[in-house]
Order: sequence, then C-alpha cells, then structure tokens
Amino acid sequence: MSSLNVNRKTVTVASDPETPLLWVLRCELHLTGTKFGCGVGVCGGCTVHLNDKASLACQTKLSELHGEKITTIEGVQGADANALRAAWLDVDVAQCGYCQSAQFMAACALLRNVKRPVKPAELDGEIDAALCGVICRCGTYPRIRKAIQQAAKTLHFF
Ligand code: FES
Ligand code: FES
Repeated sequence: MSSLNVNRKTVTVASDPETPLLWVLRCELHLTGTKFGCGVGVCGGCTVHLNDKASLACQTKLSELHGEKITTIEGVQGADANALRAAWLDVDVAQCGYCQSAQFMAACALLRNVKRPVKPAELDGEIDAALCGVICRCGTYPRIRKAIQQAAKTLHFF
C-alpha cells in the first residue's frame, strides 16, 4: 500500500510500486482525464502536475513519489486555471479533445511557473518550450497559444 496526495486528498493505493502513476490514476483511482498516448514519454498526453510542475505520469513510478502534490485535470484549481479554462472555451481550442487535458495541464504549469514580468512575445517563447512536448494530432496549437495569451492578459501578466 502507498499513500499519495492527489487533488488535495490523501489516498491509499494498492498498485505495485513499479506501476507508472498514469495507471494508478486511471485504473485504480478512476481519474481518466489523464490520457495514455505512447507510454514511453514522447507524446505528453499523460501530463499532470507534481508540485505544480508539468510531469509525465507514464514516466513516474509509484515508488518515485514521496509526498509530492499530484494534480490532475479533475482537480486543478486556482485563478490561473480559471482564467485558462475561460480562455479555452472562448477560443474554442479543442477539436477531438484527446490531448486537451494534457495541453491544459502543461499550459497551467507554464502560467504558474513563468518568470514575471513577461511580455507577450516572451510568453510566446515560453509557450513553444512548454508545449512542444505535448502532441496534438488535430493541430490545435495556434488556438492553444491564443488561449494562453488571453489567460495571461486576464491575469495581468502584461
Ligand atoms: S503517454 Fe506519457 S508521454 Fe505519451
Ligand atoms: S485536439 Fe485532437 S489530438 Fe489534440
């Protein structure tokens, strides 16, 4: 048995310590918003937050977790998440939706951790760096960028 902090709650899980967090979230905790894409760390589809940093759940074994705050798309909160959610809807970012929870979590981690003050052009560079690892087969990248910029403006980043 292992104890985890998931979405601000302490939970006990029975999965083998070598199990990737992705499968603990999806199969044991039924938090299926975190997606399986490749399972080998190249698509970014399983992005969650570990202590507010974007992390790949498929590359994080249960045994490697030591009390980190794990946040999934089901539990992400805060002014930045709210601004991003509103912008995501306003810009109508999603297409098929498969990659979107990962895109959102990567975008939220970016807004949470970007050094401020930041200008729109600088934020564009940060967006390139933060989101290039999350693949969208539908090509929603321009709308993701627009939504992040819009949320940053709402949050008075510039
Ligand atoms: S499923 Fe984790 S990076 Fe692809
Ligand atoms: S919205 Fe379809 S893969 Fe990104």
